[in-house]
Amino acid sequence: MITISDINPNDDLVFFCSEDISSINTYFSKEELNYIQSKLKKDEHYFTFSRLHQQFFFINDKHQKSEDLEKIRKAGDSIQMALNAEKKESFSIVGVSDKDRLIALVEGIRLGNYQFVKYKQDKKKNTLSEVKIQEGVMTDTEVEELNIVLDAVCFCRDLVNEPIIKLDAVKFAEQVEAKAQEAGMKTEVFNKTKIESLKMGGLLAVNKGSIDPPTFTILEYKPENAINEKPLIFVGKGVVYDTGGLNIKTANYMDNMKSDMAGAAGMAAVSIAIAKAKLPIYIVCLLPATDNRLNGNAYASGDVITMYNGTTVEVLNTDAEGRMILADALSYASQYDPELVIDMATLTGAAVRAIGSNAITGMQVKARTWTDLLIDSGYKVFERIAELPMWDDYKEQLKSDIADQKNIGGVEAGAITAAKFLESFTNYPYIHLDIAGPAYKTSRDSYRNVMGTGVGVRLLFDFTKQFIDQQKK
Ligand code: BES
Ligand code: ZN
Ligand code: ZN
Repeated sequence: MITISDINPNDDLVFFCSEDISSINTYFSKEELNYIQSKLKKDEHYFTFSRLHQQFFFINDKHQKSEDLEKIRKAGDSIQMALNAEKKESFSIVGVSDKDRLIALVEGIRLGNYQFVKYKQDKKKNTLSEVKIQEGVMTDTEVEELNIVLDAVCFCRDLVNEPIIKLDAVKFAEQVEAKAQEAGMKTEVFNKTKIESLKMGGLLAVNKGSIDPPTFTILEYKPENAINEKPLIFVGKGVVYDTGGLNIKTANYMDNMKSDMAGAAGMAAVSIAIAKAKLPIYIVCLLPATDNRLNGNAYASGDVITMYNGTTVEVLNTDAEGRMILADALSYASQYDPELVIDMATLTGAAVRAIGSNAITGMQVKARTWTDLLIDSGYKVFERIAELPMWDDYKEQLKSDIADQKNIGGVEAGAITAAKFLESFTNYPYIHLDIAGPAYKTSRDSYRNVMGTGVGVRLLFDFTKQFIDQQKK
């Protein structure tokens, strides 16, 4: 929690400082000032020292690039670790010259401080709960907005971290709906009967091997002051658990598949944040959800499925299930006549093989300008996007002898063929984000923490604000 308040000089203190340290003279002895100056001269980005029980942290304020904001987030994580180790509950940040840098620091602290310990008996809970900042750098509204976004990242992580035994498709929809209603959104959750009556063949096919029903959740936010007539639509892959189905995942490839709904969790979280922050924009969020399991009735290789839009798909791998459920949601999106649709999904191992696990692969159709804006947001919040091409030759790989197309391509360019499959269900400007790499960490990665990272939430919140600014112009 961030609050604006006066600085108590006896608090633990974080200083933003450049080589000119005259502004912090009053806090330190001559000896200490010499030490600080020598560290700053050595160009150390971040350093710390203590005086009895009081800890001081210094962030060198000289640099201004986006990589430097990332260094500040990481320093924020180190600071929260040091303060929690001493069981501190709050501390103050002093001498900030720039809002973006303060935000980066708070992000690192708050997201590093996040824990998912509800299933541990020995919870070893972090004590830190308040970050105090001085008046003048951020307005009350900006502070509130930052709190909302960071809460949303944590909400996304909570959903991703919850194991399948605790969070099936129905419970996922319930949790999202409750939070969205709190934020004043209009919500609707389609149950299995409704999904059947709508003939969402892709979602139903994936759900066939499950004993739990699927859900299709719709969140809508349309404030009176919305700057757009046609909505911005967010679609998320909500595979609450991916066994692979009959093409079962082997070795340890199944271990982290509770996270296969990270796209849906992220889209739900950012939509709720947009509503809570009362951004002047009309948005819709579509969240198809099911587990991908196998039983006697599971969908099988060779099956031909009629999708929601009436086209047919030859299933040649039941583990390519994300695109089956997303396809129905993307066709469903058409009826809103959207300005832009963005989907986010833990879709392919191929995306991870292509660019590793620290970035998102992005692909676009008829959305060049929006994509450039999104890529900019990616650098700013350091959830970077590497764009892959969407040339039509990749589509050749999806040709089927029996149906309109297959659900898998060949061995090459798997992230792109998946996107080409999805594209065929769209008729509007479209951006596809594959977060299979950055959505989940098996070991702690600084402020991105361990397990669900909440990737996409800060990215799409920032993008939405840019989208609003652009539309106003
Ligand atoms: N959920 C997986 C993709 C994934 C892999 C997410 C690793 C996170 C980490 C997806 O449903 C899947 O299994 N994709 C297959 C597609 C293939 C069968 C065409 C893959 O990438 O191997
Ligand atoms: Zn799969
Ligand atoms: Zn999957």
